[in-house]
Amino acid sequence: MNKLRPSNRTGITAFLLIVWSCTGSAYSFTTPEEYISHIQDSPACSTKQCHRELAAGGEKIPHSPVAEGECHFCHKAEAYPDTFGVEKDQRAICTLCHTAMNHEMQSNTSVHAPVDNGDCTSCHDPHQSAWPFLLRKSYNEVCMSCHALKRLYTGGFVHKPVKDGNCGICHDPHASNFKSRLVDVGFNLCVTCHDNMIAGMTKKYVHTAILESGCSGCHDPHSGGNRFRLKADTQQLCFACHKGKMDEVSQYKNKHTPAYEGNCMSCHSPHYSEKKNLLLDTIDALCYNCHKDKNVWKEKRFLHGPVGQGNCTACHNPHGSDNAFILRLPFPHKFYSEYEKGKYSLCFLCHKEALVTAEKTVTATKFRNGDINLHRLHVNQKKGRTCRACHDVHASDQEGRIRNEFPFGRMKIRLKYTQTKTGGSCLVGCHKERGYDRVNRTKNER
Ligand code: HEC
Ligand code: HEC
Ligand code: HEC
Ligand code: HEC
Ligand code: HEC
Ligand code: HEC
Ligand code: HEC
Ligand code: HEC
Ligand code: HEC
Ligand code: HEC
Ligand code: HEC
Ligand code: HEC
Ligand code: HEC
Repeated sequence: MNKLRPSNRTGITAFLLIVWSCTGSAYSFTTPEEYISHIQDSPACSTKQCHRELAAGGEKIPHSPVAEGECHFCHKAEAYPDTFGVEKDQRAICTLCHTAMNHEMQSNTSVHAPVDNGDCTSCHDPHQSAWPFLLRKSYNEVCMSCHALKRLYTGGFVHKPVKDGNCGICHDPHASNFKSRLVDVGFNLCVTCHDNMIAGMTKKYVHTAILESGCSGCHDPHSGGNRFRLKADTQQLCFACHKGKMDEVSQYKNKHTPAYEGNCMSCHSPHYSEKKNLLLDTIDALCYNCHKDKNVWKEKRFLHGPVGQGNCTACHNPHGSDNAFILRLPFPHKFYSEYEKGKYSLCFLCHKEALVTAEKTVTATKFRNGDINLHRLHVNQKKGRTCRACHDVHASDQEGRIRNEFPFGRMKIRLKYTQTKTGGSCLVGCHKERGYDRVNRTKNER
């Protein structure tokens, strides 16, 4: 603000005042006496000669006490030498009439510095304005007069309300109980406009990130260089808070590509979901989305229990694993494998190990000839056949989850299995058919 050197002489003062009204620069008296002599004999402050720009009827919207000619509410002789006879801390003056403001300042934890300092007129013109709320300039220009924050406008993506200067949609210019003096808790702020998300916020599972840090944990509310103004490209975005997952995902010997590459959103919603763990869809639908060739399983006659239930992650860890095929537990992938305890723990998560350990049994398995356990015979030995040699763990067209063929070296060996009420028989490649019967033990040719 332009302040001329003060003078003691009212004559000069009056002269300067004329100069000021012509040049637009402001002069302030320094003593009560000067001011009193200035207003002496004046019937009104706003006349044709004096302060005519404050007279009613102009293009600007006048502040009510100005329109009423009640200049003395703010300009007081006893306030000198404060500039223009207005007390430095204007709060006391303004809240004389705007009593609600006092309450607002006392009841809120975070009061904006210029408000707290009583510098109300840094934003408001005390007399009149062409802008709503007697603002000195457009909304965002008012804010920008102190916050020359280029970073609010960085990157190619500026949020529409910020571009429009609608800071007040989110920030209270005076005081609030929320962080950054927001007008509401984080996500309420946003869903008032993004109302298509209100329904989402009532879903069964809402990302704790939103509940704890609002939407701005991931989106810059003002601007940014990433699409959707995300604070990081999607990979780093999730890892920023899920550091444990980052370590976990990268330490596995066998990585699942989408998780390892941080493409978390191929399976998870960043916002909310009806599904546990914020999944975008049922587990198997997610897997079939990418592993399209596996859709053929759905057409098979028999689906293995958990596969039929769509529970692919009963066996596979979607984030990676130290076991082959990102399996949660060990499972040998060869045709032959010496039997050892623990080698098939994946299967024994749900099935009983007695299946392959019981020597003679009439209960542990149906794959027996009389009471001879054929599972044990095939699996539990030095050159044991693995479960894969006979079973397809996902889906098959033959009873007993027996596979149609098995790739052996470069050949494909066909398996033809027939089940009966009490047993079954199997024709493998070029071998003779072998049978078994739980009631009347079958004698197979050697
Ligand atoms: C609501 C309080 C308030 C009222 C009412 C008010 N003023 Fe002011 N006036 C101020 C403040 C504060 C300043 C300091 C400069 C600024 O903030 O624009 C000021 C500054 C001035 C100035 C010097 C600088 C300028 O902007 O021209 C003049 C002259 C002035 N007022 C005249 C008047 C007159 C005449 C009236 C009555 C018609 C009046 N004021 C009513 C608060 C008020
Ligand atoms: C003599 C009483 C009085 C004083 C003192 C006063 N105001 Fe006002 N003010 C009013 C009245 C009356 C209105 C118009 C009614 C309304 O909208 O609330 C008004 C309107 C306003 C508005 C516009 C509100 C709107 O909704 O458009 C703002 C902003 C404002 N005053 C700020 C101030 C500031 C800042 C001060 C102190 C520098 C101040 N007032 C001092 C009486 C006063
Ligand atoms: C940082 C800028 C800024 C400061 C400082 C400021 N205001 Fe405001 N004020 C605004 C804006 C912007 C609005 C428009 C309404 C909104 O966005 O909430 C407003 C609105 C108002 C209103 C009318 C609406 C309401 O909330 O009642 C009044 C009265 C008011 N201010 C008085 C004051 C007083 C008194 C002070 C000083 C104690 C003050 N303001 C300080 C920016 C400011
Ligand atoms: C007169 C200078 C001034 C003006 C004008 C101004 N501010 Fe501020 N603002 C400050 C100062 C000083 C601080 C730091 C102290 C504080 O937090 O109050 C600040 C802090 C803030 C903060 C940070 C609060 C936090 O907790 O991190 C926000 C948000 C803010 N201002 C928004 C606005 C908005 C919106 C406007 C326009 C309506 C505005 N400011 C206009 C001076 C100003
Ligand atoms: C859509 C809502 C929204 C709008 C519009 C908005 N802000 Fe913010 N602003 C926020 C949120 C949310 C935060 C808190 C940031 C965080 O939690 O990371 C914030 C923080 C701030 C801060 C303090 C932190 C910082 O980055 O320095 C300032 C200053 C600020 N905003 C100024 C402004 C100004 C000026 C405008 C208008 C040009 C504006 N804001 C418009 C939502 C908004
Ligand atoms: C005043 C209303 C309003 C508020 C409040 C608001 N937004 Fe927006 N937002 C918009 C508009 C308008 C767009 C632009 C839509 C477009 O360009 O199609 C937008 C765009 C977005 C986009 C990009 C979407 C896209 O399709 O490009 C994101 C992300 C976003 N807002 C997040 C937020 C967050 C987070 C908050 C709370 C901090 C918030 N918004 C608050 C109005 C708002
Ligand atoms: C954990 C991080 C995170 C949080 C928290 C978050 N978002 Fe998002 N948001 C994203 C990601 C990532 C995308 C991009 C999704 C995609 O690629 O499909 C996105 C996309 C969007 C979009 C544009 C696409 C769409 O779905 O319409 C809007 C709008 C949006 N978010 C608003 C919000 C709002 C509002 C909140 C708070 C209620 C919020 N976001 C909280 C990460 C987040
Ligand atoms: C701002 C921090 C933050 C960011 C960024 C973040 N999260 Fe979260 N997320 C959390 C918190 C806090 C929890 C709850 C505690 C936990 O389970 O670790 C959580 C939980 C989860 C859960 C488990 C949900 C449940 O129902 O148990 C999933 C899945 C998840 N986040 C995925 C993501 C994805 C995908 C991203 C990237 C788009 C992401 N998160 C980014 C903070 C964050
Ligand atoms: C291929 C799909 C898929 C991908 C990609 C994926 N997840 Fe998951 N995630 C799941 C499934 C399914 C669950 C449910 C638990 C389970 O079945 O193991 C889950 C559970 C979670 C959980 C909660 C339980 C836990 O394991 O801690 C978090 C947190 C999580 N994921 C974060 C992430 C993050 C971060 C990424 C990106 C690095 C990611 N996920 C990538 C499918 C995926
Ligand atoms: C976003 C796409 C995507 C989704 C969703 C997805 N995968 Fe994958 N998956 C891949 C890619 C890419 C590979 C590595 C290339 C390949 O072997 O096809 C892979 C590899 C695998 C492998 C072989 C790993 C190895 O060690 O050879 C298994 C097993 C697997 N995924 C299971 C699943 C399961 C179970 C789900 C559902 C929970 C799933 N995938 C969801 C893309 C996906
Ligand atoms: C009962 C445990 C189990 C379940 C449940 C399971 N898998 Fe597997 N999956 C395996 C095993 C074991 C392998 C190793 C290959 C083999 O032995 O045939 C494998 C291999 C895979 C492979 C890579 C090898 C290939 O055939 O291309 C994919 C992809 C795969 N599974 C996807 C899925 C999907 C999708 C689901 C759910 C629909 C699912 N799995 C359910 C045990 C399971
Ligand atoms: C998550 C639990 C679970 C795991 C792990 C599991 N299974 Fe199963 N399995 C089942 C259920 C439930 C059934 C019964 C439903 C059905 O017939 O599909 C079943 C049935 C079977 C059958 C069907 C026999 C018949 O009479 O039709 C075979 C064979 C089988 N499992 C082999 C395996 C093998 C090999 C493994 C290890 C790779 C394994 N299972 C791991 C749950 C599991
Ligand atoms: C030589 C082929 C062969 C091998 C190797 C084999 N199975 Fe089987 N399995 C069968 C046949 C045949 C049946 C069907 C028995 C019936 O219902 O008559 C069967 C049935 C089953 C069943 C259904 C319950 C039962 O015992 O009747 C389970 C579970 C099972 N197998 C798991 C396994 C597991 C786990 C492995 C590896 C540790 C394995 N099988 C290895 C041929 C085999």
